[in-house]
Amino acid sequence: MTYIVTGLIFMLLPGTFLGVWNLIKISSREAAESISPVWIQAHGHAQLFGWVGTFILGIGFCSIPKLRKLKPFALWSAWLTWVLWVVGVTVRWFSNIYPWHWRIALLLSAALELAAFLIFFQAVASHRPSGGSAKPLEPWIFVVIAATLGLLASLLLNVGASFQLALNADSPAFPHLFDQRYLIVSTWGFIVPMVWGFSARWLPVFMGLRPLRNSFLVFALAFNILGVIVGFLEHFFAAGIFLLVGAATAIGAIRFFEPAVKPAKTVNVHRSFPAFIRIAYGWLLIAAALSIWAALAGAAPGIWGASRHALTVGFVAAMIFCVGQRILPSFCGMRVLWSPKLMLIMLVLLMSGCTLRVASEILAYQEYATWAWNVLPVSALIELTAVALFAVNLVVTFARPPVVVASPLT
Ligand code: HEM
Repeated sequence: MTYIVTGLIFMLLPGTFLGVWNLIKISSREAAESISPVWIQAHGHAQLFGWVGTFILGIGFCSIPKLRKLKPFALWSAWLTWVLWVVGVTVRWFSNIYPWHWRIALLLSAALELAAFLIFFQAVASHRPSGGSAKPLEPWIFVVIAATLGLLASLLLNVGASFQLALNADSPAFPHLFDQRYLIVSTWGFIVPMVWGFSARWLPVFMGLRPLRNSFLVFALAFNILGVIVGFLEHFFAAGIFLLVGAATAIGAIRFFEPAVKPAKTVNVHRSFPAFIRIAYGWLLIAAALSIWAALAGAAPGIWGASRHALTVGFVAAMIFCVGQRILPSFCGMRVLWSPKLMLIMLVLLMSGCTLRVASEILAYQEYATWAWNVLPVSALIELTAVALFAVNLVVTFARPPVVVASPLT
């Protein structure tokens, strides 16, 4: 629960509020490059590592030992990871926003984040099974392991880049091209396969889908890794193609768009849950397709930005809003989601805000339609409301007493 509440705080304040502030400034000046890249990167880092990363570490500590039937790890490792991670991500945000002794702060933050990850990894990966041998690894576990290595790669790149900047640069901002390559690793290389892995584990049961196509899942992962490597090497068009094929193969593996064979298990969440999961996977395809368009268009900040938010808001945030509200209340001490109706409202708001944002970012930033600058702040406020309602629903859920409910896997 500590990890989840911490993730919510990062999501709201350093993440979303700063993102909204940035977008309002960009829109009022009608120029994408009118604000400092450090402010944009502070927002991106808080969202990817402060929110999503903290959630994933918490869910990993809670679920990986249980799923792999491992011996319990020492609780101090979860607390130490939390302290190092939170201080690391917080110092990073401050080093970008208030560049006071930023060289030391940037290096310290990168080192703390890496140290936190290594303690997490040691705790959940190295324990021996309790009694007898562990089951052979299922393909979805490979996907989660690949995603974990994607997180490790992102953190190592962060250490290397921070070191370079501390030695040679006069600002804590990552150079634009490196930032673009780094973001491919930390979004498509870390968060996307993590969402696929847990989707493959839980969604066939939650949505009553046909049995998983394990071989497709392995191919999807292979295409995705290829896309990330090629993208990191600056072949953005080829990367987009691999990422799109990987995403389509992952959808074919989990069989989201084939008729369900059993009724969805929507007890304690809103019954629209399966529809929003399908919409989120639609955004994943849109994000990959937009990245191909952006690569073809050359310097196209509006199309890159639209692709990034189709991925981070349309896919990642929507998946966390859907699956998070399904599993987190029971993970956090057998609780029941406070308001399924609020879940519906926030998902409708998130998807509407995302649609307005992605469409108007292309129209405004690429100078196709000036009226679209006026739509961007509206889209930001709609997304902010959705994010705030998600936090309220979870915090009220945690504040209520636990009840006896079915396990999240039933
Ligand atoms: C209320 C919702 C949000 C708003 C208003 C917002 C706003 C922005 C803005 C204005 C930028 C600058 C680039 C551009 O104009 O496209 C940006 C970049 C970015 N955002 Fe968001 N954002 C939101 C939600 C999110 C979420 C949920 C995530 C991740 C889970 C995210 C991750 C990122 C990343 C990774 C970048 C790129 C940072 C970089 O260049 O290093 N954003 N966002």
